[in-house]
Amino acid sequence: MKKSKINKSSAIKFNINDGLSPDCKSKKRMLSEMAGMYLDSEAYSQSLSNKDVLVYEFYDLGKPEEPGELSYGTTIIYPGKIGNEYFMTKGHFHSILDTAEIYYCTNGHGYLLMENPEGAVELQEMTPGVSVYVPRRFAHRSINISNSEPFVMFFAFRADAGHDYKTIETKGFRKLVIEKNGKPEIIDNPKWNSD
Ligand SMILES: [Fe+2]
Repeated sequence: MKKSKINKSSAIKFNINDGLSPDCKSKKRMLSEMAGMYLDSEAYSQSLSNKDVLVYEFYDLGKPEEPGELSYGTTIIYPGKIGNEYFMTKGHFHSILDTAEIYYCTNGHGYLLMENPEGAVELQEMTPGVSVYVPRRFAHRSINISNSEPFVMFFAFRADAGHDYKTIETKGFRKLVIEKNGKPEIIDNPKWNSD
């Protein structure tokens, strides 16, 4: 493991309304990178053939992946839906499962959906000013339930935690958040794969 040589403070600006930083470049997740993540695959293909839109973006500041370091930044989920399922992040477990994370909402309206390998599910509603502690062992996904505003959150976690996207890509989350009669509703994921 590479040891970091520089031990200096740093200051980075993140806009609380749109979540964007003038100081660094975000990572972008386009709709075309979300294949298989939505329940309605027909609506997904149709939407994609119409236009490949930006679903979410986030910052990875490249902090050294070492114990004692922190990784942080903002994540911005744009408003939109595929079928009746809201725009969301892919979601992930941490590769070091026993690591927690903090989220703090600065704009918009959304949910943080969490589940652990044993099947416990947690859902927290987020509005500006709300912070949520994602416990160790819980996969987490951010869902924008507003149809007009970006859902913006600041996050921080142990920098060496790592990201396991693969488990969610193959199994999905046990629960989904969809819009029903104009309101968000949590449902069992009929495509959830327990193998
Ligand atoms: Fe995380």
